[in-house]
Amino acid sequence: MSRVTILHCSDLHFGQDVDLEQIAGLERLAEQVAPNAVAIAGDITQRARHGEFQRALIFVQALRRIAPTLIVPGNHDVQWWATPFDVIGAGPKYQKYRRYFGDDLTPALVVDGAILCGVLTSYGVVAGSMTPNLNDMAVKGHLPGRETERAAIRFNEESPELLRIMVMHQNLLRGRISERMGLARWREAWRNVMDTGVDLVLCGHDHEERAGALPNGAVVATSGTHTSRTRGKRPSACNVVVAAAQSIAIHHYIWDASDRAFHPGPEIIFPRPRKQP
Ligand SMILES: [Fe+2]
Repeated sequence: MSRVTILHCSDLHFGQDVDLEQIAGLERLAEQVAPNAVAIAGDITQRARHGEFQRALIFVQALRRIAPTLIVPGNHDVQWWATPFDVIGAGPKYQKYRRYFGDDLTPALVVDGAILCGVLTSYGVVAGSMTPNLNDMAVKGHLPGRETERAAIRFNEESPELLRIMVMHQNLLRGRISERMGLARWREAWRNVMDTGVDLVLCGHDHEERAGALPNGAVVATSGTHTSRTRGKRPSACNVVVAAAQSIAIHHYIWDASDRAFHPGPEIIFPRPRKQP
């Protein structure tokens, strides 16, 4: 089985907080790593403005010249105020995102050795994302059963030998610093994610890089942010994921502002969840 390399980033937040030096650094890193695919796990804008999406699109186009690139929306990319509680339907809140990144909010991508499937966790202000904490409004996401069912069907359409990757915005693992889960009703989300037979989940939202595993061994990686708004004012980080026949390695790449480059940092290696033939 061939190795699969994925460049995983999230929370670029084009707008007032984006660090354009890091954006250039990400493009250089993609050229160096030459991944099989790039996964961008949402929050590509700060306030879902046209100018932010347009600059974000230039970045995505640059990456697409290097490798196939999959993107899903995050809570900052959703204009929830256009239709709180979907009073005029869900369409208006995704209108701008779709204009720049296409109708399909949850694309799938098949590359050599892997299938990546986007799932939608960012719905703005809707009942399903509500928690008793009012601060969660428009921030927390949820993962409907229909999303994981769709991912499971899509995975099963491909060879079982492919690495199965799910890409979502809100963090599936609890943040170490924030101590927060990204999803409302996360236990149900974990069960549904595990039921899909996924090998690897790539997410963002928490602004702290992390790697861990669900109870069934499915690997989960969270990427950081490319703004100054990292948790604990730590340096920014993205992930380079390398899957081999028996293992999945999550390698955090850490931004060094002094030489304007991402450098290899901590690497966490997990057993590959599904045995390979
Ligand atoms: Fe987010």
